[in-house]
Amino acid sequence: MSSTLLLARSATELVSTPFGALLTALAALVGFLCWLGFYPLRRWRYRHFPGPVGLPFFGNLPQIAAMDTTRYLSYVSQKYGPVCKVWFGTRPWLVISDPDLVRKLSAQCTARAKELTSYLSVLTGEVREIEAASAFYAHGETWRRGRRAFEASIVHPTRLAGHLPVIRRVLGRFVPSLARYTTASATSGQPPLDAQKAVGDLMLAITGELAYGVDFEVDFEAEGAPQGGCPEDASKQAAGGRVGAHLARISREVFTVIQLENASAYLALQLMFPSLAPAIRWLADLLPDANQRRCMGVNSDLAAVSRQLMTQGVSAKQQRDRAAAGEAVANGFKADEATNGKAVNAIRAFRELGSEIAASSFMAGMLEDRKGAGAQDRLSDKEVIAQSSTFILASYETSSTTTSLALLLLATHPEAQRALLAEVDATEGREIDMELLAELPYTEAVIKETMRLYPPVNVLHRHAKGDIKLPDGRVVPDGTFLALSSYNLHHDPALWPEPERFVPERFLTGPGGGGGPTHPAAWSGFGLGARMCVGHKLASMIGKATLLSLFRRYTFSVAPHQPVPPPMATGLTFGPKGGVWLNVHAR
Ligand code: HEM
Repeated sequence: MSSTLLLARSATELVSTPFGALLTALAALVGFLCWLGFYPLRRWRYRHFPGPVGLPFFGNLPQIAAMDTTRYLSYVSQKYGPVCKVWFGTRPWLVISDPDLVRKLSAQCTARAKELTSYLSVLTGEVREIEAASAFYAHGETWRRGRRAFEASIVHPTRLAGHLPVIRRVLGRFVPSLARYTTASATSGQPPLDAQKAVGDLMLAITGELAYGVDFEVDFEAEGAPQGGCPEDASKQAAGGRVGAHLARISREVFTVIQLENASAYLALQLMFPSLAPAIRWLADLLPDANQRRCMGVNSDLAAVSRQLMTQGVSAKQQRDRAAAGEAVANGFKADEATNGKAVNAIRAFRELGSEIAASSFMAGMLEDRKGAGAQDRLSDKEVIAQSSTFILASYETSSTTTSLALLLLATHPEAQRALLAEVDATEGREIDMELLAELPYTEAVIKETMRLYPPVNVLHRHAKGDIKLPDGRVVPDGTFLALSSYNLHHDPALWPEPERFVPERFLTGPGGGGGPTHPAAWSGFGLGARMCVGHKLASMIGKATLLSLFRRYTFSVAPHQPVPPPMATGLTFGPKGGVWLNVHAR
């Protein structure tokens, strides 16, 4: 008998013993884990794309964590070229920093990278379904319906203008609240203003009320302490009439739980073993750690309050319509209580609670629009809930980062601040309306230049549908996670001379102006193609109205302990780390 046969027979005999079976199972498990950790097939498929060597299981995550995502993607692109790969755990991202390719791929690939959400959290059950329905992450028909809802509320000019009264009113409360930071009161020991926090509060108040149509009750005079109601019982809070304050608190918490330092252990597992994601979610549900419980809790809370607002909004509207038919409402609730009493009382109670959603709000618009819509276009309840929270998630941090950094850049560039003040002063005595906001080219240039230097969303994530042949012949495999880097293009000296300098004039047309970007993909602060930011008009409206209102009353200089340039970090968005500290001067 040959030695091979002998070996095979003894191996078979060993496997048939209990010890042998255990050994075999262990060997299979180790083999399986090595396969998952080394992903040889995937490495082979992406062998043509240069990039740093990825560790088993972790890929380049240790370097990303040490250096920050934005800086790391910039570093690898400089080292390995405009098409290179980075391993996020066991999954490769193809980082693209070539303007022609970015333009082509953003037009060709209309879906966001699949499983983008799996890099952020491990949501399960209903909240996972809600997250997947968000216009930001969704695909196909769900995305189209969600995007249309946004377009109806914040792109259509009449509806967009309908949001201005809320913006004006909130600014009317916010701007005077900064008087206590002016240098006169600073001599009494008042520390400088943390513009990142203050403008964050402002943007939460504005975007929250625009989204849900209830006052978020943000207290601009309060120092530090979290505001809003107790988060334990959403329905009790809403019934107690502080639904806006409660929503403000939850929204802040939603941003906090997404920070890397608050990630659950299951997120790390999900990053290392994406193919085991369903099992990891199941385990996270069964045995949640504290961070997982916190993340699920706040998302469930947000869904519960949104659902309650929707229900109350719908029933109040129905009752109002019914009461209006009896002319009760028109008579200021004095009509025949016998016939209309129930409806009138319900409306009065709801209004007294302060919980009735304003008709101009995004949520009210969605509820109204779905009444006339055909079955295919009608948003489900989960979709309404998803788009409402997306409204805040997509706008609050992005807008506050842009505005607070614009203030810092103006504080450190007195000549730019002077040019902006001249434009502001020319509007003296005029109310802020759509016409006025359209006449502020320098303010707009300041915002664009701020977003060029510090784009809050600086990677456009796309999913490669089908194999894509690049001009040099290499093939991007079907399903690739594409990271189109706005940041790298915004800082490319071939596209922007002296890219690290703050020069708003780059965006001015006419004499002395740079005329704007020299390539269609050179500036993509709001993204590109079909998935471009649907809120860019609203964002610009809020940004301009804020700068105009602030500079009518104050000027700003940089506080002594504020580092320049500011330290930045990439979380859900790319923003300043440790605050933006400014001195405020009354004009
Ligand atoms: C300065 C503020 C803002 C910045 C810098 C910003 C930036 C962006 C960027 C870069 C994208 C991705 C675009 C792409 O992949 O091509 C995006 C998408 C999106 N933004 Fe904004 N955004 C801002 C404000 C807003 C506001 C105010 C809203 C709405 C209230 C909003 C809603 C959205 C939505 C829904 C998407 C997903 C669009 C889609 O996938 O179809 N954003 N934003």
